[in-house]
Parts: sequence; structure tokens; C-alpha cells
Amino acid sequence: MTTKKRILTGDRPTGKLHLGHYVGSLENRLRLQDEYECIFIIADLHVLTTKPSKDEIAQIEQNIRDLILDHLAVGIDPNKVTFYVQSAVKEVYQINLIFEMLVTVPRLARLPSIKDMARNASIDEEQLPFGLLGYPVLQAADILLPRAHLVPVGKDNEAHVEITREIARRFNNLYGEVFPEPDALVPNIGTLPGTDGQSKMSKSAGNAIMLSDDTKTVEQKVRGMYTDPNRVRADIPGRVEGNPVFAYHDAFNPNIDEVNDLKERYRQGRVGDVEVKKKLAAALNDFLDPLRERRAHYEANPDVVDQIIADGNARARAIAHETVQMMEEAMGLTYFR
Ligand code: TRP
Repeated sequence: MTTKKRILTGDRPTGKLHLGHYVGSLENRLRLQDEYECIFIIADLHVLTTKPSKDEIAQIEQNIRDLILDHLAVGIDPNKVTFYVQSAVKEVYQINLIFEMLVTVPRLARLPSIKDMARNASIDEEQLPFGLLGYPVLQAADILLPRAHLVPVGKDNEAHVEITREIARRFNNLYGEVFPEPDALVPNIGTLPGTDGQSKMSKSAGNAIMLSDDTKTVEQKVRGMYTDPNRVRADIPGRVEGNPVFAYHDAFNPNIDEVNDLKERYRQGRVGDVEVKKKLAAALNDFLDPLRERRAHYEANPDVVDQIIADGNARARAIAHETVQMMEEAMGLTYFR
């Protein structure tokens, strides 16, 4: 048996996923699940770095279910990958604390991502939580807990993988070789624009098509999509480049001949927006139909989903236990056990 390289990646459970997540990460994860040993963390503790209130915590359980359902719906195979909940595997608290000794405050404070997260959560500099400064350290603990080799992440998380590499190196230098230095795997694909033409699809901007949207909702959202604003009539030549309707056609319509024909006629002013959008809605619904079927199956069997999480937690715990033992042994932190 050849041992596969191990991947650790994951998300904060903040809500349902949309087409932008599919293009940005899920499609990649689908491919990776066959080639690698994949572990997907649901990083609920990271949510607390900006939102520690009890009301926020009360929403996390449902968000975790939604996140797993979105993964299962797109075809992530629970027999191939391990899903686990961060807060359920207590070793991450231990690993996090040790790692806090191996990174400097200025190194963390310089990261633009920390400032971005603070700004998005309306936290001003004077109120910066210690835990938010430590966000990348906790992420390093996530990644090194299973001693992962590869970390598929978006551009925005690349710096956190770099911190993780520095911490792994520092640990290995101080105490002996325990951790691999994991590589970030950043897909070089553009982001999917929002239905309003904004550069990024996001639920909070209200410009997202959710993976869990039904047929009618998709049709309605596509009908309202932003297109070329200069094209007030169907017989005016239109712009295909930068037009979100065509960006979606490119990403989700497998009928390349149809897409090329629509683009050509659009440029010449020989097709109406209605036809372009009707064909897009049909393509999106064709893409989403199998997802809906898989989702319905798991929604009807919530015990199966619970079991997937329980099995994943157990497996992650076993690996984490090993890691902590390796760490403590390397450090000589073995007295009075
Ligand atoms: N920071 C990631 C995000 O932006 C979530 C995350 C937490 C993560 N721990 C991770 C991603 C470990 C990859 C690996 O939501």
C-alpha cells in the first residue's frame, strides 16, 4: 500500500455555501478526495475570534449541518474524507498553546488578514481580541494536528499557511523533527462575480446563488442578474467580457457550442438577454439537480450525517492524541503524567 499524502483544509461554519464556493474550493476538494487522504475541519472555534456571544454560538450547530450537507450534496464522499468539528477534538487547545510560544506578536500583528477580519467585524484596533491576533496560530494547530502535508486554501489564507510553516520549522528546530512543513495549494482560478456584477459573490452582499436554492429561486435570481448596462435593446452589440451572465455560462454550462453561439450573437446584437438568461438558468438547474437529489437523501437521514461527524471526530481524536504525545516527548514535557 502506498500511503497518500495528507490534506487538511476546512471552513468556518458561518452559513450555507454558494456557487462561488463551488468554483473556489468545493470543485477542487472533489478532485483531491481521490488523490489524497483528506481531512476537512469545521473550524467553529475560529468563529469565536470575532463573534464569541452566546447568540452566535447558538447558531453554530445548524451551520455545521448546513456546511456538511453542502459538501455531501456536491459529491464529497464520506467514505473517502474525514469531517471533524474543531471544538470536539480537545488536543487543538493544547497544540495551540504550545504554538503560541513559537511565534512573535509583531509577526502576527503585521498580517493584513487580521486587520481585515477586525474591520469586517467592526472591531477597532484598541479592542482587538488576543484570540483574533492568534487566529493564524490556531489555524496552524489545525493544520499540524494531523501533521498534514498539503493545505488547499484561497489566496486570503496563504499567509496563514506560511505562519504554519514557520511554526513547524521552529518546533522542529527546538525539539526535534515532529512536523512536516505543509505546502499551501492555492488554485489559480478567478473568483465568480456576484449576480449584481460585483467582483465577488457573497451571501452578505445579497448577490449569491446558493447551492441549496430551488429551481424557481435560481430562475428568479438569473432573471434579475446584472448584464451589460449599455445594452438597452437586444439589437445593440453587447459586451461578453466582464459580463457575469457569461462568466456563469463559462463556469457552469457544459454545452460549449451553445455558449459560443450565444456569445457571438450577443456581440453582434442578435440575441436578447432573456434567451441568454433562460439558457443560463437551465444550465445552472441541470448542474444543481444532482446536488438537490443527494441533499434530499441526507436531509431525510440526519442520523447518517451525525454518524459521519461522530466517526470523523473519533478519527481526528486518535490522530491528535498521537501528535500531542509526539510533541510532549520531543519537548521533554513528560513529567508527572
Ligand atoms: N481560515 C479559514 C477561513 O478563512 C478556515 C480554517 C480554519 C482553515 N482552520 C483551517 C482552512 C485550516 C484551512 C486549514 O475560513
